[in-house]
Amino acid sequence: MTGSKVLVIIIWILRGAVSNKWEIKMPQNINAISGFCVQIPCQFEIPDSFKGSLNKSVEAIWKKSDLSGLTVFSSKTEVSSLLKGSVIGNLLSKNCTTVFHNFPAGFNDTYFFRLQGPEPLVYTFQQGVDIKVHKDSSPPTLTPYVEILEVLEGTKVTLTCSTALPCPSQQPLMQWNPRLGEQLTPSLQVDEFGQTLLVSSQMFNATPLNDQLKVSCSLLYNSQVAERLVKTSTTLRVLYAPRNTIALLSPSGPVSEGNVVTLSCHSEANPAVQRYEWYKHIGAGNLMLKDQGKILTVIASVNAQGLYVCKAYNNHGTDQSMVVAVELKSFQCSIAPYIMCGLLTFLLILITAVDLVKYKSLLKRLKQVEGMREPMTYATIQKTNDSSVYNIIQARRREDISWKL
Ligand SMILES: *[C@@H]1O[C@H](CO)[C@@H](O)[C@H](O)[C@H]1NC(C)=O
Ligand SMILES: *[C@@H]1O[C@H](CO)[C@@H](O)[C@H](O)[C@H]1NC(C)=O
Ligand SMILES: *[C@@H]1O[C@H](CO)[C@@H](O)[C@H](O)[C@H]1NC(C)=O
Repeated sequence: MTGSKVLVIIIWILRGAVSNKWEIKMPQNINAISGFCVQIPCQFEIPDSFKGSLNKSVEAIWKKSDLSGLTVFSSKTEVSSLLKGSVIGNLLSKNCTTVFHNFPAGFNDTYFFRLQGPEPLVYTFQQGVDIKVHKDSSPPTLTPYVEILEVLEGTKVTLTCSTALPCPSQQPLMQWNPRLGEQLTPSLQVDEFGQTLLVSSQMFNATPLNDQLKVSCSLLYNSQVAERLVKTSTTLRVLYAPRNTIALLSPSGPVSEGNVVTLSCHSEANPAVQRYEWYKHIGAGNLMLKDQGKILTVIASVNAQGLYVCKAYNNHGTDQSMVVAVELKSFQCSIAPYIMCGLLTFLLILITAVDLVKYKSLLKRLKQVEGMREPMTYATIQKTNDSSVYNIIQARRREDISWKL
């Protein structure tokens, strides 16, 4: 350790042990909401020689604009002060924390704290606090604070919403919209200047469903006189590797040789798919790169038929589709029905022809038979017709008649 460092440490120890300074610790700025209360966290330090005067009769004063400015508040004349409020800290333990009620809109200014007696304890602290009065409360702070929050799918995201409370006794309602995953109940934290922060976190796993989702944290301030709602939002952008990748075929069925088949690849990805690749199965689980691009055009042929897959890529990964088959209309298959039909027709004609021949020969034989029989039959009839029967009948008639007579 060098000599100078030792000296610095000794001085520092001495300073801590014997306070010789007038010091005040307050926030530099406080954002107040008009009509709502303001709490100024305040802690002071006085030289040891004045500590004897720090008793119950000490008067706390707040001055406006500059060190010798207008007294707007005195702990001795609280009721008649310009600003209504009270010192809530214990002055004897050098705590000058003050609350002003219904802070007025026109009081945008710097405020200085002054100890006014008992003598010789009279001092205005050099450092002031800037109180900015806003009509509306300041929107809460989101951490990480970005307009668009880019996260990878599956990332555990923690969003934290916080706001410095102008006045912890008027705590706003802090809410998340939408509520995602797990929320921690809003809690109060105190920063190094004694200002109270209201903090709430929610944790969730980023999914593609959260993409483009606007997440906001809102504060609802409610007092007897006013109600204010403010919010801060961030839009989630969930990045993910390609998913739901499919290959589509058009036309979808088997095609004739020489026809065009269009294969198109579709995939969801964020950012959008940057590259598509088409592969053809070449047996034994091996793939051969055919082309790049969303669309692959194939002229149907014996060589081109087969199984195809597409792959989609972006910065975050890749995804592969199921296989699609480019099929050729089989030659045998398409001709077979005609052959069958022709064969059947031929068979039918053959049978008909055979039948016809058979019929004709039958007819011929029949005619031959008839040709032999014809004259004989005719002669028989003629002979029979000749007279005998008639004669018999006639003879009988004659006989009948003669017999009757
Ligand atoms: C406070 O101290 C002053 C002088 O330092 C003394 O005159 C006064 O009586 C004390 N007051 C009380 C209440 O102790
Ligand atoms: C000062 O007083 C306020 C009000 O009572 C209290 O909240 C705060 O913690 C005190 N500060 C310190 C440093 O003790
Ligand atoms: C107070 O100051 C802030 C910031 O300088 C400003 O935005 C606001 O309008 C002022 N309010 C009044 C009432 O003057």
